[in-house]
Amino acid sequence: MEAADELEELLREATTVFSDYVRTSRSAQAPVLRISERDTLDLALPEEDGVGAAGIWDDVRMICGAATNTWSERFLYKLYASPTPIGVLGEALMGLLNNNAHVFQASPIGTLIEAKVGRRLAELAKFPMDTAAGLTFPGGSYSNMHALMVARNQRFPELKRKGFAGGFGGKRPMVFTSTHAHYSIEKAAVAAGIGLDNVVSVPTDAAGRMDAQQLRALVEQAEAGGGAPFFVNATAGTTVLGAFDPIDDIADVCADHGLWLHVDGSWGGPLALFCGDSELGGYSVRRADSLTVNPHKLMGVPLQCSFLVMRAGLAPMREALSLGASYLFHEDALNETGDVGDATLGCGRRPDAIKLWLAWRYHGTQYFCSRLRGARQLALAFAALVEARPPTPFGRWVLVGQPQSTCVCFWFVPHGCSRDAWGDVTRQLCARLNSLGHVLVDYASADLPAGPLPVFFRLPINSPHVTIETLAGVLAAIEHAAEEVFA
Ligand SMILES: Cc1ncc(COP(=O)(O)O)c(C=O)c1O
Repeated sequence: MEAADELEELLREATTVFSDYVRTSRSAQAPVLRISERDTLDLALPEEDGVGAAGIWDDVRMICGAATNTWSERFLYKLYASPTPIGVLGEALMGLLNNNAHVFQASPIGTLIEAKVGRRLAELAKFPMDTAAGLTFPGGSYSNMHALMVARNQRFPELKRKGFAGGFGGKRPMVFTSTHAHYSIEKAAVAAGIGLDNVVSVPTDAAGRMDAQQLRALVEQAEAGGGAPFFVNATAGTTVLGAFDPIDDIADVCADHGLWLHVDGSWGGPLALFCGDSELGGYSVRRADSLTVNPHKLMGVPLQCSFLVMRAGLAPMREALSLGASYLFHEDALNETGDVGDATLGCGRRPDAIKLWLAWRYHGTQYFCSRLRGARQLALAFAALVEARPPTPFGRWVLVGQPQSTCVCFWFVPHGCSRDAWGDVTRQLCARLNSLGHVLVDYASADLPAGPLPVFFRLPINSPHVTIETLAGVLAAIEHAAEEVFA
């Protein structure tokens, strides 16, 4: 069969199967998690003839039936949201085109869109528009890693050719990040040959924000000890408490010591860019050298879609990472923007910017502003609900703190339970709740200056489908689980 005819036949059925899937997934009773069915799944690969169009829809339905249901508003899990319908279209479009954003000719429109969206994010970040630019990476971790590699090579340019034998100019390169930062910074330091021992964990204040005074003291101490600090990661919206590190104070330290300031805005970056003034008291990332924004988290773009936005544009990236492999990257009159693949550690690249661009065109900027503001307001309302919720015969509710982004953190504490046991209680309740499959929630831990907090529930709110009623339902489900577990 002709490819176009085959695709038409498949898409015709897909329209029904996909929209049915979303309709049932969105229903009030739809399970979120169905791991119990794993033993009955037929995953065998046919050795001879495949199942063809007649059989493939059973397989598609089987996958849909066993997949985690991110379309439900009861999916309140690890920081990403249900996709938007336009996001699904964007994802499908990328599969249809199969363009490769490593070289311009292999993805001209994807490259132009990537440049456009990167510049718009830079503009929202208030970066200088004579230079600023952005590139996509498959996730916040890869964006952070590229930022660190670029900063490292800028500070130690001989490294690109001589490697570690160049000895970093006889110095010990050092990275600074808060104790609450995402582990991708440490992984990046491992990948970049910096080593975990040279990643300095900067303590935070009681809200989980980096203590800039301690950062200054630690940088000075490192310099006095023969270290070569070169990179500071500030987090805009930490993974667990959602804290926003004080960028201005951190930027002062970086300016005084000639350090690269990266802002990991994987989680809270969109809040800072789209409603920093209204929701975050004027919080701004404008003084950063580089910024990670991860639209596949708070912005409803399907996985994966992340941006690294660079104050000085792509030039330092090219300087750090480009090898100009002439069998792939050719100088060409058509290629105005350059082959962006050569500015990264990789080669083939998905033009993920298309998904964000399409959603942005479809909804407009205002959609993201109100989506993000709505999530933030709902997080505050949910925190108030937890605080005001009366004790049950089995226990009481305790808020970890006021939400700083859209994560709400709390405990359900059985009466008479000592604080040492709160963490075990949370884990048990979470396991009970998730095993029922009706909601998917998570727990986390955090170290504060006063000591480690017992493990607590951490619910990220990031989908416009979530309502206060959904969240009240989750609290009721936890109370019910407590009754079952501790009665
Ligand atoms: C603050 C922060 N940075 C980076 C990441 C990693 O992003 P990704 O999962 O897209 O690699 C996360 C993930 O939750 C995060 O919360």
